[in-house]
Amino acid sequence: MSRTTTDYMQLINKDKLPQHIAIIMDGNGRWAQKRFMPRTFGHRSGMNSLKQVVETCCELGIACLTVYAFSTENWKRPRDEVNYLMNLLVEYVNKEIEELHRNGIRLQILGDYRSLPERSIKAIEMALAKTAANQGMVFNIALNYGARDEIIRAARSLARQVEEGKLRVEDINEETFSRALYTSGLPDPDLLIRTAGEMRLSNFLLWQMAYTEFWFTSILWPDFDKEELLRAIWEYQQRDRRFGGLKKSEQEDHHA
Ligand code: IPE
Ligand code: IPE
Ligand code: MG
Repeated sequence: MSRTTTDYMQLINKDKLPQHIAIIMDGNGRWAQKRFMPRTFGHRSGMNSLKQVVETCCELGIACLTVYAFSTENWKRPRDEVNYLMNLLVEYVNKEIEELHRNGIRLQILGDYRSLPERSIKAIEMALAKTAANQGMVFNIALNYGARDEIIRAARSLARQVEEGKLRVEDINEETFSRALYTSGLPDPDLLIRTAGEMRLSNFLLWQMAYTEFWFTSILWPDFDKEELLRAIWEYQQRDRRFGGLKKSEQEDHHA
């Protein structure tokens, strides 16, 4: 028998929630094509899934949520689709900002949003400023984001600091490097969800996902909902995270 949202709400251990959930929202185009509709229709429908996910994460008390909205490689798509996505983003931000703010959510953008169209920059900066002081969930939208681009930017920024005499080469370590990334100050993702059956990272958070648990589903993003998210979290809680060490029970055996 399949479990419902209510079942999962009871099964999920509230003391072992992932602190940071990352999501590759994939399959919008295929979802629309299955319905003989243009790909853009899928992107629009995907916004409802995003709304549900943000609400559910907030309800559970997840500290940080990161969603992949537009990659540095997505510029290869037809101009019309790219424009549609940019407009949809402005629309999403304008429509949702009040509710995000009411829920104490702090919005952040991972990626180089300053090279986006002027209208997008304006909407983003308004939303960032409005929610900057909020203390609730951190909600990152990865936009014009590429992990390799992020890593190179970090390397350059550290190199510049060395050049200016503000940093010693010996002080470049995992901590200072992490702090030079877009995700500065945030915990690494505990759980990565990717929809639409694709099992790859597509240049998402390469540094941060060294020990992230991956969860894949063939469900297309516009069909992803609260129940699916809860399933992913519950299955994540059944995993044994060793970080290169031993299971807790094995460690204890050794000391016995
Ligand atoms: C994900 O859906 C949204 C973005 C990448 C912006 P896709 O547009 O990649 O949908 P598919 O993978 O072609 O079905
Ligand atoms: C990854 O999806 C990027 C986003 C979801 C924004 P893609 O659809 O662009 O990834 P590939 O091309 O299938 O690897
Ligand atoms: Mg895709």
